Amino acid sequence: MKKYFTTPIYYVNDVPHIGHAYCTLATDTLARYWREKIGNKNVFFVTGTDENSQKTIDAAQSSGKDVFLYLDEMAHVWRTTWEQCGVSFDDFIRTTEDRHVQTVQSILQQMYDRGDIYKGIYKGLYCTGCETFLKESDLDENKHCPAHKRPPQEIEEENYFFKLSSYQDDLLDLYANNTELLYPEKRKNEVLRFIESGLDDISISREKAEFGISLPWDSSQKVYVWFDALLNYLTVVRDTKKESFWNSAHHVLGKDITKFHCIIWPAMLMSARLKCPEKMLAHGFFTVDGVKMSKSLGNVVSPLQLSEKYGNDALRSGLLSSFEFGNDGDFSISHFEDFYQKKLVSGFGNVTHRVLTLIHKFLDGKKPRVDTDYTLSVRKEYHRLIEHYKLKGVYDHFFQVVDFTNERLNQTEVWKLAKENPESAFLVFAELYQYIEFLSEMSVVLFPDAAQKLKIILGNEDSLKPSQYLFPSLE
Ligand code: MSP
Repeated sequence: MKKYFTTPIYYVNDVPHIGHAYCTLATDTLARYWREKIGNKNVFFVTGTDENSQKTIDAAQSSGKDVFLYLDEMAHVWRTTWEQCGVSFDDFIRTTEDRHVQTVQSILQQMYDRGDIYKGIYKGLYCTGCETFLKESDLDENKHCPAHKRPPQEIEEENYFFKLSSYQDDLLDLYANNTELLYPEKRKNEVLRFIESGLDDISISREKAEFGISLPWDSSQKVYVWFDALLNYLTVVRDTKKESFWNSAHHVLGKDITKFHCIIWPAMLMSARLKCPEKMLAHGFFTVDGVKMSKSLGNVVSPLQLSEKYGNDALRSGLLSSFEFGNDGDFSISHFEDFYQKKLVSGFGNVTHRVLTLIHKFLDGKKPRVDTDYTLSVRKEYHRLIEHYKLKGVYDHFFQVVDFTNERLNQTEVWKLAKENPESAFLVFAELYQYIEFLSEMSVVLFPDAAQKLKIILGNEDSLKPSQYLFPSLE
């Protein structure tokens, strides 16, 4: 079995915020889980940057920099942000790389040769914020793009069009035959309604764009940025050693970009006679203190700041456990700090330290072993939750095991029992130790930094190394 995981590739007109981090860390969690289950070499996880967009040029120009210098600097910012946040990507794709230009040109040529692309006049509205064509009916009451609160540009130019309309039935069949293709169900229903309402052909090139990938048969036109961007998912697996990953593509994306991923992308793949993705996972959006994150409001939260102050485990668990994958949610620093102190310092960190310190004290650090497996049912539940994309659910489950371990510790008063009845205490220690081992096992996926520390403490065959605190207290 192989699993290929992708994040959307990010626009580089700005630096990463926690909305992007949520998406990247959710994908990272799935990749880490499957590496444990099927082995590192069978998992391939890719992220990257979407660089051929008009907003990038606008941002480069307003920074006063050369576009290519700007792109290099910004791609570096995105890449190093993910590295610093502990994201375990295997490849990082930039859409200005030669390997990507080759993919885009060769796939588009195939679609053109099949007769799926034709020339026409595009007359309509375009929002560079969304990098998308809009209809009158998409606009708000001020005739502005609802997402960017700006009037779209009016465009009239000769473009090439993709016959998306002729894939309507094939797309409906695709969803009928692969009922679990898009998660969660509510997004699937939206997408199906959209397809059923009738699909228009879409413009896939821009005549006046200064920047981007040229169409292979007409170098006066540049490929529409979304057509180029979606193809990144193929670029990274075109190398013969990676080819087999294409059969198991899992795209993680935000709910704002489902139309591109769940309608246009499969139709492009059908046109190029390529297999459609195995799974598309659409997460929700979150606000900060109940308000949409925006530069003008000054409420944009940086993942790097959270990582530096609280650590990468807190960053990932704090984001992923605050609302269920697929739903919308809210983030606030006060809630985050409360979570850190209660769940990480006083919960996970404290119970682990208590149990391990007691085993040192009463059993000389020797691992207590018995034949009974106390973790069978909680282990099964862990796998079920994560394999069903319940990323909040799986953190909740982890903390239930923490709480249960704590309760058993307090109920049994094993530190007293150890003095009165060492044999019974041994059995309690064995049970508690199994929970700690299981927490350590889940941590490889859910708390990778704590997992490293636990590996040092628990790593020997028979005895424990001295315990240490996993999370420093905020006070
Ligand atoms: N470049 C396109 C994706 C091309 S993929 C072939 C793009 N980039 S983006 O940088 O604007 O957004 C990337 C991802 O970040 C999207 O999945 C989007 O949903 C997510 N988020 C941006 N803001 C967000 C929140 N406030 N909350 C959660 N996710 C959000 O779209």
